[in-house]
Amino acid sequence: MKPESRSPPHAGDGGQVPVISTKDLNKTFYLGKTIYAVKDVNLAVGSGEFAAVVGPSGCGKSTLLGLLGGLDRPASGDVVLDGQRYSRLRENGLALLRRRKIGFVFQFFNLISHLSALENVMLPMRFTGKPARACRSKGTELLETVGLGERISHLPLQMSGGEQQRVAIARALANDPALVLADEPTGNLDTKTGEEMIRLFVRLNRERGQTFIVVSHDAKVAEAADVVFSLSDGEIVKVTRNPRA
Ligand SMILES: Nc1ncnc2c1ncn2[C@@H]1O[C@H](COP(=O)(O)OP(=O)(O)OP(=O)(O)O)[C@@H](O)[C@H]1O
Ligand SMILES: [Mg+2]
Repeated sequence: MKPESRSPPHAGDGGQVPVISTKDLNKTFYLGKTIYAVKDVNLAVGSGEFAAVVGPSGCGKSTLLGLLGGLDRPASGDVVLDGQRYSRLRENGLALLRRRKIGFVFQFFNLISHLSALENVMLPMRFTGKPARACRSKGTELLETVGLGERISHLPLQMSGGEQQRVAIARALANDPALVLADEPTGNLDTKTGEEMIRLFVRLNRERGQTFIVVSHDAKVAEAADVVFSLSDGEIVKVTRNPRA
């Protein structure tokens, strides 16, 4: 018999088959005593949903996102993405899954400084063995999609923070991931640029049908999301659903 879940499920999937879900997910750190950075998290995000993860600093948002993205391994519990259980995958398998199915966006953009916008966007495609010409045309198309068609040859330092984040978003979309994960994507941008970025996320989510999970302190992100998971001390304490505008 399967063990009972220790905490109630926090489905955010509106009844549809989830793209990503977790089962009793825990992550601990030992600092003199055991600290739960993520505690008994059961969540599910449906295909094409826009989910936000909110909560005070230190509540475990980045740790949770790292587990969802397969960048980090849990102490116990599991993550299932598109039917694949992370616990069943070795490091190579997990790396392949990340490359094919997940796009990451970070607070500090994490672009490679000596590569142009286009080269940065092409990089994840090159790793999959896609021919250079195809990577170039797809990269150009993605930069046009995020409004940077005129900037494809610029280096990161020749662009504003908002433009760099757009390049990072285009890069995250390079391999047509099922899931886009973003950690504080507006955290290093001014309010107006941050709002533009949220509108871009919503547009991409609606137009491309990709699932987004965005960690943010920004109330505007929570307003734009279909479902909001509120964390406190590593636990989901509230799930809010917003009707789509
Ligand atoms: N490598 C680590 N070693 C020890 N403790 C850690 C480690 N990484 C995170 N923690 C602890 O886990 C908890 C959750 O951290 P996390 O970075 O996930 O929070 P967060 O919600 O993303 O915070 P912020 O909003 O400030 O980014 C915190 O108490 C943090 O100190
Ligand atoms: Mg964080």
